[in-house]
Amino acid sequence: MSTVATMEWTQDLLLGDERTDVTHQEFVELVNATAACEPEQQLAKFQELLAHTVEHFAQEERWMLATGISADFCHFSQHNNVLDIMREVDRRATAGELDLIPRMLEALVEWFPMHANSMDASLVSYLKEKGYDTRTETLPAGASPEGVALPSCGSHEADHACG
Ligand SMILES: [Fe+2]
Ligand SMILES: [Fe+2]
Repeated sequence: MSTVATMEWTQDLLLGDERTDVTHQEFVELVNATAACEPEQQLAKFQELLAHTVEHFAQEERWMLATGISADFCHFSQHNNVLDIMREVDRRATAGELDLIPRMLEALVEWFPMHANSMDASLVSYLKEKGYDTRTETLPAGASPEGVALPSCGSHEADHACG
């Protein structure tokens, strides 16, 4: 078994939106399952985690676009940065550099709680203020297109967390 950091699914990670919380719990479980794999099975599990992360980020981005957040908002670029690195790890691990996977998992374990409690937490409260229903992916009839203030992308944030 690989000795890499794992994540615990705790109350601190619950954001109070069911779809977000279910997706995040699946993410945490997949990170841990990948970490627990023997090296020869780890790449396939990592690819499952990558596919799940693509969907996870796309879901949040769909909700942002549907509620008037523009695609240049930093939440998008934070997702893109992480996916770029995960895809690079997938490419290089496929070519034989399997030791990159545990290092990627360590970076994700460090990055995720920070991202969830900043970007995703403010997205959840923003969606609630807008009355956006993440189950049906709909806004209430007559919802105003004006945004509720989102937090700025301060320098303390996770832009470079997986660098
Ligand atoms: Fe998320
Ligand atoms: Fe996010």
